[in-house]
Amino acid sequence: MAKPKITVIGSMNIDMVTQTEIMPSQGETIFGTAFSSFMGGKGANQAVACARLGAQVTMIGCVGEDHFAKLVTEALEKEGVDTQYVRTVPHKSTGIAVITVCDNDNRIIVIPGANHCLLPEDLPLLKDQIANSDMVLLQQEIPFATVEAAVKLAHKLDIPVILNPAPAMKLPGELLEQLYLVTPNEYELGILMGLDNNQELTYEQLIALYPNRIVMTGGRKGAYYKLADGAIKNEPGRKVEAVDTTGAGDTFNGALAVKLSEGSTLEEAVRFAVAASALSVTKLGAQSGMPLRAEVERFMETRIEGRADS
Ligand code: RIB
Repeated sequence: MAKPKITVIGSMNIDMVTQTEIMPSQGETIFGTAFSSFMGGKGANQAVACARLGAQVTMIGCVGEDHFAKLVTEALEKEGVDTQYVRTVPHKSTGIAVITVCDNDNRIIVIPGANHCLLPEDLPLLKDQIANSDMVLLQQEIPFATVEAAVKLAHKLDIPVILNPAPAMKLPGELLEQLYLVTPNEYELGILMGLDNNQELTYEQLIALYPNRIVMTGGRKGAYYKLADGAIKNEPGRKVEAVDTTGAGDTFNGALAVKLSEGSTLEEAVRFAVAASALSVTKLGAQSGMPLRAEVERFMETRIEGRADS
């Protein structure tokens, strides 16, 4: 089978990761246990996930004029990702994420730097690249106007788009209608639907508003979605020794994009994506644990008892 062509439009960061045994409170200073730096950014992470899982990937994004730019770009190239549309922005710094990992969970602050210089005006030049893709994968660490313009352009060209709406914001209804799939977690789902604290709709009710269009990730609980007919489905998470959950959502999105662009059903794609994202949390760093296709397929053959409690 020919490799599916996936274009990822998004961020590239260097992740500065500190590990601690407790989260510091406001005004408190604590000793951490370790520091490391990794390649990151939701865009670059999703590009790597797609490449490892068998797609031909092109990355569109911006880096700064600093030594980090070379690191993030070369790391993508090492994975076989085409970086010809990665633009260097003079006098800007490459995106940085400051991440604290504690008790199998994380907190992230992103300094977008050059990522915020990818503008709607850049897109007309990329029309042919988008038109020649089987799927476009987007996140929200670039300017929202660029996300909107990219969705519009891909929709016009009849190319399906998966939007991972992180960091979350309310999405215009028209944009939602143009997406092939949107992949929030539970918190992001409420925000993108524009719910305020007084509106008590459950995630089941929200997902049911857009059958076939929303896949909600639930961490250890796996993923939730609804087909056009039938009730909400849960693909349960798989039990693994979690070391760092950073990048699990990115692996999920990459896996989903690869399987769907190969023609799999939504059910098959979600099952594959849940397994891939489970494997990704077994190593420190967003990209370090991202599995290869064969590893996911082998893991999926493991017994059902291997699934996490939901
Ligand atoms: O999704 C994880 C990513 O979010 C990290 O790699 C970090 O760079 C932030 O963008």
